[in-house]
Amino acid sequence: MIDQTKLPNNLEFVTYDDFNQVAEAIRTLVVRGAPAIGVSAAFGLALAALQSNAEEKDELIQDLENAKKILIETRPTAINLSWGLKKIMEIAKQGKTVSEIRDTVIAKAKQMAEEDVSTNKKMGKNGAELFHDNDTIMTHCNAGALATVAYGTALGVIRATKESGKNIKVIATETRPVQQGSRLTAFELKHDGIDVSLIPDTAVGYTMANGLVNGVIVGADRILRTGHVFNKIGTYQVATMAKNHDIPFYVAAPLSTFDLESKPDDVIIEQRKASEVTGIGDKKTAPDGIDVINPAFDMTPPGLISGIITEKGIAKPPYEESIKKLFKAN
Ligand code: MRU
Repeated sequence: MIDQTKLPNNLEFVTYDDFNQVAEAIRTLVVRGAPAIGVSAAFGLALAALQSNAEEKDELIQDLENAKKILIETRPTAINLSWGLKKIMEIAKQGKTVSEIRDTVIAKAKQMAEEDVSTNKKMGKNGAELFHDNDTIMTHCNAGALATVAYGTALGVIRATKESGKNIKVIATETRPVQQGSRLTAFELKHDGIDVSLIPDTAVGYTMANGLVNGVIVGADRILRTGHVFNKIGTYQVATMAKNHDIPFYVAAPLSTFDLESKPDDVIIEQRKASEVTGIGDKKTAPDGIDVINPAFDMTPPGLISGIITEKGIAKPPYEESIKKLFKAN
């Protein structure tokens, strides 16, 4: 995988043959973004199957359960992590022999990677309808090729809009504290020759108030059956400002990012280390010992969301009905 902590300055690939390394890569944001985390975790379990010395099925399943426990504890908010692990465990338990299980979990992880790409392309096409020629589209965090296996969710819609022949511009927010916007989204879009401008997170209001934004599109880490969306910290603020300026605010996410069981209070918001806020790289930008509140995600209520773009179509308010329909169609 690409070591995303080294971007945009270095495009470095890392190779793992131990599921513990994959767990560490998820924890430390070498790989991040809900769909990429889900598929990486699936490959982590495939590695665990190869690492296991089991000779009997039950022993192997136990080794996979142990690896699953380590992988699932890496980050709490993105539902794709548990979705990916569940898919692999289901297929493993259907196997009869150790070698058959090894083969099927590897094949399943590869299939999930391929499906992620085709899903993003379908989502892209569905979402491209929502944007017009000469639109400027704002996006927050990175929901691009780096956050998935390829093509991206929100950035997939932006790519598909461009590929449909529409002339568009993008405004990417920096997305402090980890700067997924400036380090990753700006990197991807410049790489693809898509017109992108970068703003500090604090300039969202200014750009909207000055008519510089025609629409917003973001990704998601978890979407509830009510349409509540959990995504990168700051998304709620962007959505609130968009509502205030009557600018359509869209979310793009695959059905694997929906959690039809949980209620808003059930969702754990990851709290990350203070040093992400008190400095940039090795430069300190806050006094020693300052208390820090550093939630990695926030919740945007359905009332602020104009539509949720999936590979199965676009859900519009009221979301309880439209999301139910999407899963019925699935
Ligand atoms: O902390 P991160 O970088 O994993 O957060 C990523 C996001 O919030 C993305 O917007 C979301 O996972 C969707 S990625 C297609």
